[in-house]
Amino acid sequence: MAGGRGTRLSPFTKVINKHLLPVGKYPMIYWPLLRLQEAKVTNVCIVTSEESIPAMKEMIEALPLEKLSCRFVPQAEPLGIADGILQAEPFVKNDKIVVLLGDNVFTDSLHQAVEQFIQSGEGAKVFVKEVSDPERYGVVEIDDRGNVLNIEEKPLKPKTNLCATGIYLYDNKVFDYIRRLSFSTRGEMEVTDLNRQYLEEGKLTVQRLESFWIDAGTIASLNKANSYMFNPSE
Ligand code: DAU
Repeated sequence: MAGGRGTRLSPFTKVINKHLLPVGKYPMIYWPLLRLQEAKVTNVCIVTSEESIPAMKEMIEALPLEKLSCRFVPQAEPLGIADGILQAEPFVKNDKIVVLLGDNVFTDSLHQAVEQFIQSGEGAKVFVKEVSDPERYGVVEIDDRGNVLNIEEKPLKPKTNLCATGIYLYDNKVFDYIRRLSFSTRGEMEVTDLNRQYLEEGKLTVQRLESFWIDAGTIASLNKANSYMFNPSE
């Protein structure tokens, strides 16, 4: 997912799609794409605004991601992450899908989880990470056995500090579930509402990330992502 308005990275995003801003020696979007390549995912749909497609295509073709076959799919309006996922439906057929938000920079390998999900997974899996500012994110509540009890988008008073990162695995029911969604109060088709439908069906699981993860969508977090890439041991 590489659309959206990127307002938190203004003024840069007035002229450039945020996913093309530098993180380390590559653009931001390189890192989630690298995680897909590492997980042996080969067919990738990059969903972004129509106007971003030419630059995005040129940039991605210049990156060392030879094993990925990328197609560029326009999202007419930034109507939310779930709306963006729906744009990929014509290319998915009956497969399960990995959805990565293009501003999520992380180092855990997804290979094992993706393999397992392909073999025997159903429903949806969300990767989670403990954070100090959960009110910025989707927030997950789990019980002692790791079963998901609740998931909320940017709650004013988060019940836990477990963030739902922008890393998701879905079975093929995802598009039907998205079609059932209505717009949230902020006018978006929310990925958290999508995940809540899986929760209501008893089909939402979570997996913790062990290593570095950041949503690089603000000036401060973009700076942190860069610091990490240049000095991973600090
Ligand atoms: O990073 C994790 C968080 O990402 C989750 O915890 C939240 O549950 C999820 O809603 C999302 O929150 P953000 O406020 O960070 O979402 P943002 O609007 O920044 O968009 C996230 C990514 O999705 C970004 O790479 C742009 C892309 N996007 C977004 C929208 C609204 C699209 O491709 N199309 C869209 O319409």
